[in-house]
Amino acid sequence: MNETITVSSARNVLGSLRMPGDKSISHRYAMLAALAPGQSRFENFAPGADCASSLDCMRRLGAVVERANDGSVTIDGVGLQLKAHSEALDCGNSGSTMRMLSGILAAQPFPSELIGDASLSRRPMKRIIEPLAQMGARIDSVDGHAPLRITGTNLHAITYRPPVASAQVKTCVLFAGLLAEGTTTVEEAHPTRDHGELALRAFGVELERSRNTVSIRGGQTLTPLAAYIPGDSSSAAFFLCAAAIFPESNLVLDGVLLNPTRSALLDVLAAMGCRVSMLRVEEQQGELVGTIGLIPGQARHVVIAGAQTALLIDELPVLAAIAPYTSGGIEVRDAAELRVKESDRLSAVTRNLQAMGAQVEQTGDGWRIPGNQNLHGAEIESYHDHRIAMAFAIAALRAEGETVIHHADCVAISYPGFFEDLERVVER
Ligand code: S3P
Repeated sequence: MNETITVSSARNVLGSLRMPGDKSISHRYAMLAALAPGQSRFENFAPGADCASSLDCMRRLGAVVERANDGSVTIDGVGLQLKAHSEALDCGNSGSTMRMLSGILAAQPFPSELIGDASLSRRPMKRIIEPLAQMGARIDSVDGHAPLRITGTNLHAITYRPPVASAQVKTCVLFAGLLAEGTTTVEEAHPTRDHGELALRAFGVELERSRNTVSIRGGQTLTPLAAYIPGDSSSAAFFLCAAAIFPESNLVLDGVLLNPTRSALLDVLAAMGCRVSMLRVEEQQGELVGTIGLIPGQARHVVIAGAQTALLIDELPVLAAIAPYTSGGIEVRDAAELRVKESDRLSAVTRNLQAMGAQVEQTGDGWRIPGNQNLHGAEIESYHDHRIAMAFAIAALRAEGETVIHHADCVAISYPGFFEDLERVVER
């Protein structure tokens, strides 16, 4: 794929699409399948490089992983004790792989080293090192960053209240808790996506859950799983936001994940005045899945803050990228976490919006972006961050003139077919 992509303006967004399998669920299924003795099989497994990193790590840890051309993956699991390996495990660009896998490796009777690319090596790992150390693990890092050297050992249960709202941290502690002695509890201040909990249950693990608390008893065995992975709701966000900015658009997305901890964008779009419909909703492996329809409407000013920010964390770049085209504008607060994603997404969005001529105020932990603005095409830098490249491909659709996105090939981290799918629903 080309490193640089030119996106010209569009007239409308019309038609229907199916999304690639959800990235968050695919990571978790890949890891748990390796711990389940027997064969698991997943259809519509996430096609991006991030989940390939998880599959590759599990392969090196003894699982037999086969990937077919139709997107399905079979994994022959090893059991709770994985196979020792000699080389470092490469997590690529994937924070999910490094953080969640650390929870499993901390309890293995062998040492491991986890490495990542330049972006991942800059991302904070203290957030998982601290709870795992409390459970008895020894993890050496470079001042809280990768490479992580994990000396596996017998872990003991803890009760943990994560200081940051992070599903990756919660899942890491739950995975470690599965392999620890005793019952481990995670109590969250703000709820985060619950795919870790639902995936553990789908593999036959018993969990206790109440509002923001989840407990897991260590030493439970897993049963292999056969599942169709729902369409990624964070990928769907780009198309929904594209449809929201053209008055005549009409978009249908089939088979999309509708888990309430991932569908806050639908509430925001509805609050902005769009007509959002959900059809054929069903439950698969504890996850809600259905068809989303979107017809744009009169926009109102929207403020995103607190618990809602935590639930929208991956959708904020694209919401900010379309904010100038809404009539009410958008304000985002409490989003300092965006600074430690694949890039500093707060600054990346601000700089790119400004390059397109937008008025935007970056605050310490968010943005204030007025509506009713006209943008022009510009040179966009993705900062090698897939969600920045895709967010500005959407902003480009309503800009005057052409937009050139540099390092656009990074979309392959989560959505290799993104630009082709975009062309399918865009009318010029
Ligand atoms: C993810 C959780 C989020 C999200 C990431 C995937 C997950 O990260 O940004 O893309 O699958 O648990 P944090 O939990 O660190 O906020």
